[in-house]
Amino acid sequence: MRIERARGTRDFLPEEMRKRRTMEARMRDIAEKWGYGEIQTPSFERSELFTVKSGEGILKEMYEFRDKGGRHLALRPELTAPVIRMYVNELKMAPKPTKVYYFGNCFRYEEPQKSRYREFWQFGAEIIGSDRPEAQAEIIALAYHILEGLGIHIKAELYVGHVGLIREVLRAANVEAERINSVMRLIDKGEREEVIELLRETGAKKDLIDDLISLVDLKVKVKGKDALKEAREREIIVSDSDAAKELEMLLQILDYYGVVYTLNPGIARGLDYYTGMVFEIYETGGRLGAQNQICGGGSYRLATLFGGDDTPSTGFAFGFDRLAELFPQETSDLKRGGVVAVVMPIREKNADPTAEVVEEAIKIASRLREHIPTYIDVMSRNLSAQLSYANALNALFAVLVGRTEIREGKVTVRNLETGEQEKIGVEECVKKIKAYFAVD
Ligand code: HAM
Repeated sequence: MRIERARGTRDFLPEEMRKRRTMEARMRDIAEKWGYGEIQTPSFERSELFTVKSGEGILKEMYEFRDKGGRHLALRPELTAPVIRMYVNELKMAPKPTKVYYFGNCFRYEEPQKSRYREFWQFGAEIIGSDRPEAQAEIIALAYHILEGLGIHIKAELYVGHVGLIREVLRAANVEAERINSVMRLIDKGEREEVIELLRETGAKKDLIDDLISLVDLKVKVKGKDALKEAREREIIVSDSDAAKELEMLLQILDYYGVVYTLNPGIARGLDYYTGMVFEIYETGGRLGAQNQICGGGSYRLATLFGGDDTPSTGFAFGFDRLAELFPQETSDLKRGGVVAVVMPIREKNADPTAEVVEEAIKIASRLREHIPTYIDVMSRNLSAQLSYANALNALFAVLVGRTEIREGKVTVRNLETGEQEKIGVEECVKKIKAYFAVD
C-alpha cells in the first residue's frame, strides 16, 4: 500500500532545502544585525491560547485535538500568541522593549491551493513593550529590509494602515464592539457588499456607509507624510483622531528608513487582535496567484489575555513558503550543492578491497570532509560502477585509492568533468579540490 502525504503538506528534497536554508540564513542574519534575539516555542499549545481572543469559531480553522490526558491542544496556527504567552511566563523581567524573532512551522486547516498550505513556515519578529510610532516604524522597516536583503527581485507593494481609522468611523456611528470585529473581518476578505449589508442591518446611516467605503477604497500612493495630507484633504479620515496622529508620526519615520509604501486605510487584517498600525506586503507581479500576501503584521495587546500586564506590542510574520516560491533556485550561498568528491577504494581482482585500502580511503575521505562534501563507496562496487555513480551524483572529483597508491603514498585524482587524472599526495589533492571548489 502506498501511503500519501497528508493533504496540504509538502516534502522538501535536498535542493529545495538548500535553497530554504540559504534564505533562512539571510533573514536570520538581518534580524540579528538589528539586535533581535531568536526564540522558539512549542509546535502545539493549549487551545485556549488561540480561542481566548478569537472565540471557539477559530477551532474549525485549526488542527485541534485532545491528548491522552484529555487536554485540549492545538497545533499553532501562528506564532504571535505563543510568543506573548512565553513573554508573560518567562520574559516579563527582560529589559523593555524586548525584541525577538522566530522561524517555525504553523498549521491551519484551510483549503489547500497554490501557495496556501496546511503546514507552512513563518519568519517573524515582535517588539514587546512598545507600540510607539518609532517601534511600529522599526518593525515595518525590518520587514522591508529583510525582503530587500533576501535578494529576490520581485514586484511588491507594501501597504500601511491603522485599524483605528475604520474603528473610529464605526464607533462614531454607534456600531457595537462585537459587530465592529465582524465588519473588520469582512473588510479584510474584501467583501464590500456584505459590509454594506451588515451596516444597513445595524441601522447605520448612508453617510456613514459612504464614509467607510471610501476609507476602505482609499489607497494613496504618495510618499511619506504627504499621503496622509492627501487623505485629510479628501476628508476621508478624521484629521485630529489619535489614530491619524500616530500614523502621521509613523509615516514620517518610515521616510527616514527609506521604506517605500502605500497608505491604505482599508487594511483590516484577518486576525482579531490588532489595535493600531497594520501593514501587509503583496507580491504584485502575478507569480503567486490569489495567495499573494507575503507578509502581514501590526500592533496589538495580547499580554493581559494571558495573565500578564497590559503590554503594547508590534510585529510581523513573513509567509516563508511564498518567499521560497519567488526565490531563484540557483541562488545558493553554498557555491555548489551536493557531493563534490567521491573517494573510491579499489577492489582487488573481483574481491573486496583490502582492509588496508578501506582504512586509507576512510582516512582520506575524513580529511576531505574537513572542507568538502565527500562521499565514499559503501557498496564495495567495482571502479566503473563507482565512476558511473559519481557521475550520476554530479560529483566533480573521483579520488582513487588502491594498493599502488598506498605504496607510493599518493592518490589518483580524476577530474570528472575533463577526464584528466594525476597521481598526487593526499595534501596536494585536498589543496587542489579546495582551490577548484574555492572553499576555505
Ligand atoms: P498572517 O497574515 O495570518 O499573520 O500570516 C502571516 C503570513 O503567513 C501571511 O502573510 C502569509 O504569507 C503566510 N500564510 C498564512 N497562511 C498561510 C498558508 N495557509 N500557507 C502559506 N502561507 C501562509 C500572522 O500570522 C500574524 N501572527 C503576524 C503578526 C506577527 N502580527 C503581529 N506579529
